[in-house]
Amino acid sequence: MRFSTILPLFAATALAQDSTSSLGPDDNGKYEISAEGIRAQFIPYGASITNLFVKGKDGVERDVILGFDNATAYEGDVHPHLGGVPGRYANRIKNSTFSIDGEEFHIVPNENNMNNTLHGGPDGWDYRNFTVVSQTESTITFSIVDPDGKEGFPGEVVSYVTYTMTPHTWNIKIVALATTKKTPIMLTSHAYWNLDGFANPDDQTALNWTFHLPYSGLRTGVDGILIPDGTLLPNEKYSVNDFWSSPKKIGANWTSPELEGNCGTNCTGYDNCYLVSRDAGELLDWRNSGPVASLSSEWSGIKLDIYSDQEAFQMYSCGFQDGTLPYKSTQGAPGGSGFVQQFGCVVMEVQDWIDAINNPEWMREKKQIYGPATPAFTLEAEYVFSTC
Ligand SMILES: *[C@@H]1O[C@H](CO)[C@@H](O)[C@H](O)[C@H]1NC(C)=O
Ligand SMILES: *[C@@H]1O[C@H](CO)[C@@H](O)[C@H](O)[C@H]1NC(C)=O
Ligand SMILES: *[C@@H]1O[C@H](CO)[C@@H](O)[C@H](O)[C@H]1NC(C)=O
Ligand SMILES: *[C@@H]1O[C@H](CO)[C@@H](O)[C@H](O)[C@H]1NC(C)=O
Ligand SMILES: *[C@@H]1O[C@H](CO)[C@@H](O)[C@H](O)[C@H]1NC(C)=O
Ligand SMILES: *[C@@H]1O[C@H](CO)[C@@H](O)[C@H](O)[C@H]1NC(C)=O
Ligand SMILES: *[C@@H]1O[C@H](CO)[C@@H](O)[C@H](O)[C@H]1NC(C)=O
Repeated sequence: MRFSTILPLFAATALAQDSTSSLGPDDNGKYEISAEGIRAQFIPYGASITNLFVKGKDGVERDVILGFDNATAYEGDVHPHLGGVPGRYANRIKNSTFSIDGEEFHIVPNENNMNNTLHGGPDGWDYRNFTVVSQTESTITFSIVDPDGKEGFPGEVVSYVTYTMTPHTWNIKIVALATTKKTPIMLTSHAYWNLDGFANPDDQTALNWTFHLPYSGLRTGVDGILIPDGTLLPNEKYSVNDFWSSPKKIGANWTSPELEGNCGTNCTGYDNCYLVSRDAGELLDWRNSGPVASLSSEWSGIKLDIYSDQEAFQMYSCGFQDGTLPYKSTQGAPGGSGFVQQFGCVVMEVQDWIDAINNPEWMREKKQIYGPATPAFTLEAEYVFSTC
């Protein structure tokens, strides 16, 4: 019997053991887990985080993640990749093409008039229902079996995503096994953040929040549709992409001409892959050697420090939001607009160097190509909240 066919049976058994508690989906199809000072909700669709509640300096609980009010709404026509795990290869693959051991693969394109593949294709992982494998009060594990040939990728991939709450902290662990053939794997959590829960009456944008990338002196150079062009660019001190030399507001350089086109043709702001350059010791000791990114809002007094073992960090400043995507009923304030405004959120992704499979000179093969004879793909991250 193939593993993929017994998996649902295993899942049913694991869940049945917890039948005495209040676990399982609520009326909105969401699964809640919590710990001191933090609670969050998830759905099987894309193994997505839908809500994340933490308190700021005023003691008021804020929902700081974009999402929809119920699981059904995620299956509509609007699919901005809210909070899911894009897979099996996050971000863009140039010309929807890559080679492994001299064999060329053409996968299904889904962006820029079919010039490239974004987030694993038109039926990538965050368009599919994962299986809930287990849940307790503080942790939930999802799994997916991605068949050989799906979206054009070679070989089967089996993946587990575990989300765990510890005091004031959201922990993520992702494991993926390429079970039959060599294939590219790059995963992340694609959450959109609004640290004010859209409740700041004077500012519906992210521009006043302070951002810091202490290890990111370099970023990948990209073309007008955000495909890496092979260059690694310096984030020179005091330039718009300098978030390393000291913390800076996301909007600090908003009037600088340098920022025009910084996130692709006709895009002002950020949608960039910053490299995380740590020495081997810091990388091994990633839980203690300092956050790879920090974001804080003076208004709510919520500070988020992100720790991860990944070696790149994508930040997108929501330039394509246009006031049509609603925020949730758990967000906003009386008299609020009800909708996400342009620059009203920040997407932050811990991941590897984007499209490194098409830039072999970066020598990321061990972090991007997996097979039955290689180690497993793994990703770990901690999102730690405090007040400021
Ligand atoms: C789910 O949310 C959507 C959007 O808010 C709403 O239109 C729909 O009625 C809700 N469905 C259920 C079953 O609650
Ligand atoms: C782009 O992909 C097509 C097939 O999908 C292939 O014929 C072409 O050679 C590729 N172009 C480049 C520049 O790799
Ligand atoms: C995409 O590819 C087509 C031809 O295949 C080309 O005309 C077009 O300029 C490309 N770029 C974008 C952004 O659509
Ligand atoms: C996901 O599961 C829901 C609830 O069972 C179902 O309505 C929906 O059709 C499923 N979606 C996909 C893409 O399988
Ligand atoms: C922006 O942040 C500063 C402190 O950094 C604060 O004084 C100011 O009130 C904030 N503006 C808004 C509109 O929240
Ligand atoms: C960006 O903002 C920072 C902080 O205010 C400033 O030091 C720097 O000179 C600005 N750079 C540009 C290019 O505007
Ligand atoms: C950029 O904006 C200009 C002016 O609005 C428009 O003519 C052009 O088509 C846009 N280019 C792209 C690639 O979106």
